[in-house]
Amino acid sequence: EQVGVVIVGAGPAGLVLGNLLLDRGVDCVILERRARAAVEGRARAGFLAAHSVRVLTDNGLAAGLRARGRTHATCLFRGDRGEFTLDYGRLGRGEVHTVYPQQELVRDLVAEYLRRGGELWFGQEVEEISAGRVRVRGGQDVTGRYVAGCDGHRGVARRALIAQGTRTSRWDHGVSWLAVLAEAPPSMAAVGYALHERGFAGHMARTASVTRYYLQCPRGTDPAEWSEDRIWTELATRMRTAEFGPLRQGPVLEKAVVDLRSDVLESPGAGRLWLAGDAAGLISPSAAKGANLAVLQAELLAHALTEALTRGDETGLARYAADALPRVWRAHEFSHWMSGLLHGPADDGAEARYGRALQYARLESLRTSRTHQDYFAENYTGI
Ligand code: APR
Repeated sequence: EQVGVVIVGAGPAGLVLGNLLLDRGVDCVILERRARAAVEGRARAGFLAAHSVRVLTDNGLAAGLRARGRTHATCLFRGDRGEFTLDYGRLGRGEVHTVYPQQELVRDLVAEYLRRGGELWFGQEVEEISAGRVRVRGGQDVTGRYVAGCDGHRGVARRALIAQGTRTSRWDHGVSWLAVLAEAPPSMAAVGYALHERGFAGHMARTASVTRYYLQCPRGTDPAEWSEDRIWTELATRMRTAEFGPLRQGPVLEKAVVDLRSDVLESPGAGRLWLAGDAAGLISPSAAKGANLAVLQAELLAHALTEALTRGDETGLARYAADALPRVWRAHEFSHWMSGLLHGPADDGAEARYGRALQYARLESLRTSRTHQDYFAENYTGI
């Protein structure tokens, strides 16, 4: 017996895709390696672009984020020459972000998928994918007319495609972030980016009682080296609290090191295997685009798979790469630009001084040029 689409992975990509397919009458099954509680408890991104909110709203998936999400329309930059706020909701296309913790979105998507009658099996690890056949560790094979690889960056789908000869383009930004989740109310209205010669520090308001912080750290840093004390002291230094006022502190709930790397698969699918989300490429977190690209790709793939399965028309699938990649690359271009804005050179030679001066010239341009601000706003919120 063969299902329409076997979806591997119940992250944002797989769950949005599954919900959209069910809505269009396409039968599918989702196989997820981890337990439901683990999937629903994983705190990750939280920034939804206007496009993502539109996709979720148009498909009946936005009740939770409408009720509990918060709108962000400003961000703040801080450096050794003061601070300024960009009111990006009034610049560019006038779009804003909706901040809604990803685990809550995932919870909503799981609940809605099950309510629509979808099949979702947790604790099922896919070992191998070949020609529509998905092998589950210690279980039975599942065969689909198509397989959607939504199993993240280290998943089997990506590996299978690369083994077939698909190439990747890759960039290592050379820096890492200590990502901290603190049980502390936000200290700024929304997002704050601090440039400092000791490295970048970031503040992202999440909820009334939880805030995410980032500290640039050397590659290979062990999070255990960072005690709560050291985290708050370093944040205070880089965020220049002596000048701008203290941060509201609280217990650290989670800390992890993220390496800033990006890559894009040249072609996100072929034949019966099609990829969406992190499986199709990784984007550095510097502009919070990851989850939004996952939603975009799930939306495009849902349309293409529906056409293929209900009308036998594979032209949408053939066009999937051409439709998705230009938008994916726009996001990468901006994310790369943003990374250059946030991270100065680490050492103190002549080249480092040059690099730092460029960093500040870029920031100064953003502070003073309305054209530059419009460009920023359009790309910061756009997908
Ligand atoms: N078999 C079954 N499931 C698997 C397997 C496997 N072999 N390997 C991975 N998975 C599951 C993971 O357990 C995870 O739940 O696939 C899911 C992949 O989900 P994500 O990593 O969240 O990836 P994706 O849905 O593409 O979301 C991408 O969301 O978290 C944000 O910004 C982040 O860019 C990221 C975006």
